[in-house]
Amino acid sequence: MSSYKVRKAVIPAAGLGTRFLPITKTIPKELLPIIDRPLIEFTINEARDAGIEEICLVSGRGKDAIIDYFDPCENLQRHLKEKKKYDLAQTVRESGLSEGQLCAVRQLQPLGLGHAIWCARSFIESEPFAVLLPDDLILGEKGCLTELLEVYNEYGGNVLAVKGVQKSQVNKYGIVEYSEREGSIYKATNLIEKPSPQETHSSLAIIGRYVLNASVMKHLGLKKTGSGGEIQLTDAMKLMLKEEEFRGFSFSGRHFDCGCKSEYLLAQIEAGLKDPSMKPAIQDYINHC
Ligand code: UTP
Repeated sequence: MSSYKVRKAVIPAAGLGTRFLPITKTIPKELLPIIDRPLIEFTINEARDAGIEEICLVSGRGKDAIIDYFDPCENLQRHLKEKKKYDLAQTVRESGLSEGQLCAVRQLQPLGLGHAIWCARSFIESEPFAVLLPDDLILGEKGCLTELLEVYNEYGGNVLAVKGVQKSQVNKYGIVEYSEREGSIYKATNLIEKPSPQETHSSLAIIGRYVLNASVMKHLGLKKTGSGGEIQLTDAMKLMLKEEEFRGFSFSGRHFDCGCKSEYLLAQIEAGLKDPSMKPAIQDYINHC
């Protein structure tokens, strides 16, 4: 059982979003909307629902609009109230963050996910922390990070969100090899970044939610490059595995890789179908396709 409360989260958002060019020339991928809210708002809400108190965004050149989005926009709220648009004023207020809840560090060059997390080392100090990738949207009754923290609170160590993928797809993910399984919990024996299907017997993929001990920073600080010439988080976690336990948790929500165009579109449809005001029109459209 862990005696540490996880209070901090890091959200890496300094990538170039090349799979979404040309829109990402000027609009950060993390601000792409699911209907009327950007992906990153879902991420931040998931973190806050899980009890996270402080969030550090890893930002990069051209990404300041992400931070602007979370301003409470008091002038806009006042204007909406004067026009008696109270619901909209409340929507604006709820999508803002209060002073000091969000801080940002700069990743000067997109050298990889591991490097982005290392850029938040002063924010983390020596506490265990969560990592949430905004392009991994997980929709469900219970937040994915809430589920991971339940596992962390029971077992301690490090906890990763995982899902089974097709064997032919393992070269797109960090893969967890495991010895034991207890329900939805897998005890990791090895972690490999983007292996070929021949290199691993496992097809359990890491999805962008992690609960990690601060010791990961020591390994990331070595700045060793791995797959794709990037500083990979999975490689640092693999080094930690010699001294610390890692568990994979197969979360209950539905995952959409919104870094990929077709899954982003599916996420929009899923969100639309959940909204009673949009559901009939979407269903009607699908039925007549
Ligand atoms: P991705 O690889 O999915 O994002 O990284 P990307 O690099 O922006 O996208 P493509 O592949 O070019 O289309 C997952 C998350 O990690 C962040 C990204 O912003 C994204 O939220 N990231 C990635 C960084 O912050 N820095 C990096 O160097 C790489």
